[in-house]
Amino acid sequence: MCGIVGYIGNKEASPILVDGLKKLEYRGYDSAGIAVLNGDFLIYKQPGKVINLEESIDERVKGLSMGIAHTRWATHGEPTEQNAHPHKSNNGEIVIVHNGIIENYKFLKDELIKHGYTFIGQTDTEVLVNYIQFVQEKNHLNIEDALKKTLQGINGAYALAVMDKKEPNKMVVTRKGSPLAIGVTETNEEFYVASDAIPIVEHTQSLVYLNDDEVVVLERGKKLKITDIYGVQKPYRVKNIDLNLNKVSKGKYEHYMLKEIFEQPETIKNTLYSHLNTENTNINFENLDVLKDKLIKANRIIIVSCGTSWHAGIVGEYIIEELARIPVEVEYASEFRYRNPIITEGDIVMAISQSGETADTLAALRYSKSKGATTFCICNVFGSSMARECDFTAYTYAGSEVGVASTKAFTAQVAVVSLLAIQLGVERNTISQEKASALVEEIKTLPLEVNKIFSTNEHIKSIAKNYTQTTSFLFLGRGINFPIALEGALKLKEISYIHAEGYPAAEMKHGPIAMIEESLPTVIVATNNEYYDKLVSNAQEIKARKGPILAVINEDDSDMIHVADFVFKVPRVSDMLQPIVSVIPLQLFSYHVAVFKGCNVDQPRNLAKSVTVE
Ligand code: G6P
Repeated sequence: MCGIVGYIGNKEASPILVDGLKKLEYRGYDSAGIAVLNGDFLIYKQPGKVINLEESIDERVKGLSMGIAHTRWATHGEPTEQNAHPHKSNNGEIVIVHNGIIENYKFLKDELIKHGYTFIGQTDTEVLVNYIQFVQEKNHLNIEDALKKTLQGINGAYALAVMDKKEPNKMVVTRKGSPLAIGVTETNEEFYVASDAIPIVEHTQSLVYLNDDEVVVLERGKKLKITDIYGVQKPYRVKNIDLNLNKVSKGKYEHYMLKEIFEQPETIKNTLYSHLNTENTNINFENLDVLKDKLIKANRIIIVSCGTSWHAGIVGEYIIEELARIPVEVEYASEFRYRNPIITEGDIVMAISQSGETADTLAALRYSKSKGATTFCICNVFGSSMARECDFTAYTYAGSEVGVASTKAFTAQVAVVSLLAIQLGVERNTISQEKASALVEEIKTLPLEVNKIFSTNEHIKSIAKNYTQTTSFLFLGRGINFPIALEGALKLKEISYIHAEGYPAAEMKHGPIAMIEESLPTVIVATNNEYYDKLVSNAQEIKARKGPILAVINEDDSDMIHVADFVFKVPRVSDMLQPIVSVIPLQLFSYHVAVFKGCNVDQPRNLAKSVTVE
């Protein structure tokens, strides 16, 4: 994981690097560091957030116009100063920053130790930088060729930026499996490097996205030079990226997460209307035509994703099967590609991902593509790796999501998957045009319905206050509310560190019921669908065992309201659209519990927004 930034040009590097790191903190915030070149390297590193690093940087960086930087999500070695990047080689001549994992680092380290190399930390990256030194000295190579030769023997994933003080006007960068973008300028006097476009676009909107195994040399005043790791020259395309970053601030809210929860009426609306025709009456996925036939005739749709996006996938399974009658399987991306799955040409493999960069999801997509499947992604980040590599991308228009716990991206994903299911239903004649139009009309009311829930925020907050000492929660749901129970549980554990487990309500009696007692609250997502009576019975079973109950119910609820200790009311909408409203009180509940507990809501411990390692 981690985020890397690099700059070579004519401006002072350090503010550009630190500002870039702040924008990449969503990728990890265990430690941060920068290295700038001034004859020798000036290296600053601090455990914890980028702000700690910023405070440690002194006057000596003034006027230095080349450097590399890193914000870390720890894989090998604790998040200490020693393990923070940039890492320097034993001879002090090479520094690197690295996002990814070097899988054969142990083997390389043993070899280096035999040759007298020493290590101060435990990271795989420290091994890599020393291996570059080893290869360079053994073969008398410049830094570019030493890096290429080293990479020929490396297993794993990496985005790297490398500096060698013997070649003070040069930075070398490369990637494999981890994303990397380069910002270029017309004069070639400056180059910006980052794990994604966000730190770059305020400086230049002309970007080159590297492909795996490409190595680039950046030198002031010279055009980019890209080759593969064997030295074969590679062509490249400069893309013009128009990212609107104006909205990335907390505004009047205390946390990004709260702001993002409250943005949902707008983000759902933006997402919906972006996929409707100009009259807003029919669904219109731009550029889908080429794939339409394949989608209509699909044998099945396999949804691959991780985390919250996986929950959106399960909602998708229910809706697509119900409306379009195409079999859907939902897979954890990480499990999918390693179990030798059966994929045929008639399969559509659909990735759902906020970032479009999650390593497991990306790898599952690539695997599926190599097996002949048509690939499709629902993604929130324009120009992300998934969007670039898929046969078709349907964007969510949720805007930048900064809070590590995903909220507005989830509802936008569910909105897109619902529209897709409706359109497929019409194309496959499994639903009538009338039903489709009625659903589209109802979907258009969702932003308003979601907005209504916000008037209950203070009520939700007052309930949340009771649970700061609670150590465990059970979340139950049935049918399309089951994934909402999973999502409610995930939100709570992510940001409040309270153990929470989501379960299909009917499965409770096959295990979780053994845990029910006064100290274990159960949250039941009990909006009024065809399972409502059964859910009320499940609630009675919990009550009979003294378990406290919190329930998400419709405003016109008749029974659950009398069984539950506390209720969160949401407007009644059609069953298949209910997830978008039912999830809102659970997002708010988790948020308030976490704030009452004093947790870092936007940057929970050990997590990262975008998981770019396996
Ligand atoms: C991380 C984030 C989650 C997110 C998951 C999948 O675990 O903390 O919020 O749901 O990755 O990310 P993606 O970008 O693929 O949706």
